[in-house]
Amino acid sequence: MNQSKYLSHLTRRNFLQVTGLTGGVILGGGIHGLLSSCSQSSSLNANQSNPTIRTASTSFTPDLEIDLQAIPKAVQIQPGQPTQVWSYEAKLVKGDPASLQLLPDSYLGSVIRVRRGQRVRVNFRNNLPAGQPSIVHWHGLMLPEEMDGHPRFAIQPGQQYIYEFEVINRAGTYWFHPHPDRLTGEQTYAGLAGLLLVTDDEEIALNLPAGDYDLPIVLQDRTFDSSNQLIYLDNGIGKAQNNGMGNRGGMMGNRGGMMGNLDQMMGFLGQMILVNGKPNYVLSAATRIYRLRILNGSNSRIYKLAWSNGDPMIAIATDGRLLARPVERKYLMLAPGERVDVWADFSKLKVGTELTLNSLAFSGAENIGGMGNMGQMGGRNTALAVGTAMPLFDIKIDREERETRRLPNQLASLPLLRPQDAVNANNPRPVTLSLNGMQWQINDRSFEMEAATPEETVKLNTIEQWEVINQLNRGAMMDASGMAHPIHLHGTQFQVISREVLPELQAGWNTVKDGYIDQGLKDTVMVMPGERIKLLMKFEHYTGLFVYHCHNLEHEDRGMMRNYRVTA
Ligand code: C2O
Ligand code: CU
Ligand code: CU
Repeated sequence: MNQSKYLSHLTRRNFLQVTGLTGGVILGGGIHGLLSSCSQSSSLNANQSNPTIRTASTSFTPDLEIDLQAIPKAVQIQPGQPTQVWSYEAKLVKGDPASLQLLPDSYLGSVIRVRRGQRVRVNFRNNLPAGQPSIVHWHGLMLPEEMDGHPRFAIQPGQQYIYEFEVINRAGTYWFHPHPDRLTGEQTYAGLAGLLLVTDDEEIALNLPAGDYDLPIVLQDRTFDSSNQLIYLDNGIGKAQNNGMGNRGGMMGNRGGMMGNLDQMMGFLGQMILVNGKPNYVLSAATRIYRLRILNGSNSRIYKLAWSNGDPMIAIATDGRLLARPVERKYLMLAPGERVDVWADFSKLKVGTELTLNSLAFSGAENIGGMGNMGQMGGRNTALAVGTAMPLFDIKIDREERETRRLPNQLASLPLLRPQDAVNANNPRPVTLSLNGMQWQINDRSFEMEAATPEETVKLNTIEQWEVINQLNRGAMMDASGMAHPIHLHGTQFQVISREVLPELQAGWNTVKDGYIDQGLKDTVMVMPGERIKLLMKFEHYTGLFVYHCHNLEHEDRGMMRNYRVTA
């Protein structure tokens, strides 16, 4: 196992050098083409004796069984040439056909709909090009460690990993995406992602908008070259200046400057917003109430969601399940990995009305080394910097339909934990975010595949407080607290019980703080520069090794991830 892991990393480095010569990482067919001319990749194929493949167990009888493969394909995203992407293709083996909802002409995988209590088997097959180990992570689900998609379980192309689990989560909007070490950003960007929606009796009794009125809205940003192919971690203006050190050559980067390619360190920003995998998305809607399942599936972009007509945003669920009661805000913040279910009431609009879901301007989320917007000019996408106001998609009310629903006052019976019941109520476990050179860290450590320190060890069936601290190294050139970090925990949902911000960073914070929804259960939380946030959670289901990390996928891939261990 160690040997094959080593080989895969060796291949990876080689691959980076090869793509470095072209200046940009062209995904899909491009990657494949490059790799087939690389001799290391064929030696990897000969060494596919990875023993970490999980087989089906005869004692497990699934209610739902799905074949899921990650595979390159071509999708018509824009007029002209089709785009080479990587996509999850799902096929129903057993169960209700309504469990899989295909999004037509999209790289996104089918929406998977399950019920709490269902037993699910997923036969995952990695059919990506050589050099792309992968594993599926079910973001937000409570699962035993070997079902959770930890990077140590990544399988090589050609191999299969069989998931078997019972859905114990409450109704809510979850999602799935790859989680291989250092390749999560690239594979997710290439198209590997999908929604997983859980329903339960409590939700069904609420009679929320369903069917055609329950819509996935996956927000992602992408950059295309002139032949419609995806570009990843290339600033689009640096190609001619490539110095041969490779596009991800660390300090040298492809800018040849000290900052390197800022996108690879700070996070990829695309030049175009896609909704459900489509540019210029338009939702044709009736005069009805809709439930919008909004996922920020972007690698690093943060959104500040607001309706163009000034109507309030009404949230009915956050990452981990329905809220106790609806929460109304002028705008909602949504960082990568976070979900919010929005009650979108178009019932009082006239046919012909056009409406836009915008991302409003905000500031302070990105300020590395005190460079502020300069940083953006030095290699970041200037047109669509983080915090730039932009339209996300349009809604056209094109038909009259009678609506009888009303917003329920009560949603879920949400039993919340009490902060004083934490075993460390007066002494929260610190999770400090830092930057060491070009390496993102948590508590001064980068990711190690199997390691969890004593400070990262918790006990099953205990309640804990964790404090995420984005306040280090004020004034240093490479200051981690110059960036917002969406911090995500596997294996549990948590409550956000307090937020504090450094006075000197309050101005930026003030432009986002009213969009936080901290009333419910979450698995991903945005931590602004200067913020410290207390989380409260219970480790109640499974022992084992789980990761926690920044969901800015370039940060995650650059080490901003650690394990924690739940012991009996
Ligand atoms: Cu959605 Cu560990 O990630
Ligand atoms: Cu996750
Ligand atoms: Cu981060």
